[in-house]
Amino acid sequence: MRDTKSLVTIADYSKDEILEILESAAGFEANPNRKILQGKVVATLFFEPSTRTRLSFETAVVRLGGSVIGFSDAATSSSSKGESLNDTIRMVSSYADAIVMRHPLEGAARYASEISPIPIINAGDGANQHPSQTLLDLYSIRKTQGGLENLNISLVGDLKYGRTVHSLIIAMSHFKPRFKFIAPDELKMPEEYKDFCRKNDIPFVETAELTDSFNDADILYMTRVQRERFQDLMEYERVKNIYTLHDNMLENTKPNLRILHPLPRVNEINPDVDSNPKAYYFQQAQNGLYIRQAILSKVLGY
Ligand code: CP
Repeated sequence: MRDTKSLVTIADYSKDEILEILESAAGFEANPNRKILQGKVVATLFFEPSTRTRLSFETAVVRLGGSVIGFSDAATSSSSKGESLNDTIRMVSSYADAIVMRHPLEGAARYASEISPIPIINAGDGANQHPSQTLLDLYSIRKTQGGLENLNISLVGDLKYGRTVHSLIIAMSHFKPRFKFIAPDELKMPEEYKDFCRKNDIPFVETAELTDSFNDADILYMTRVQRERFQDLMEYERVKNIYTLHDNMLENTKPNLRILHPLPRVNEINPDVDSNPKAYYFQQAQNGLYIRQAILSKVLGY
């Protein structure tokens, strides 16, 4: 029953498919109001909180002429009465043409895609993957750097639980990146992703020091410490404010440096960075609309 049009992990898309999505997104940025989804229904099932992902997917559907059903809080769905994910997906797939789902369990999107007769778009499954975020990150990187090849990318913060950085490593493997992983011991990049880099000849270095460590970077990708993933909240308290980027830390950085963050931010980027032309995180979130229009049009066959 597996539907090959589902987007569960960024590894579902080849390099050519990724580039095709980026081109398609550029077309939607030029004209975001094409009514190609008229008569289509997209369900957004958010078992975890979201602002950008849910609202940009819903805006994408509405601007393309389709309709949205769904929930933004699992407590208002029958999962709060004990209904299984299996039954929820079977039911919703009889109402809608595609499902966008965020779920706290790693592998939930894969499981849903195996039982669903309609495409599943993974909007984040636990600490695992967030492929639509990755595509908008690639779109933002390409737009600001003029290409995706041979870039120095510094990933900062919660590299253990941050699903956006995991997806980004896999996607960038097509484009000869060099990574710097900047994290304290408690939040280091998992071995699985370092092994992935080794196997794909992607150079990386690790450091716990933020100051001056990204002066060679083209992209500085900041992340939030993911409080909701910690078993031990005392450990969260120890690391939650480990890094804060301030405007004066950007003085010796490259002119083409752009700062990305999937948002929401908590304390990782001081607001004094917002007016620096190298800050790109709000435009990055806006790019999510065009990328999600491109994803929806691909999975629905337009
Ligand atoms: N970047 C991202 O996933 O943001 P939301 O949690 O607000 O959807």
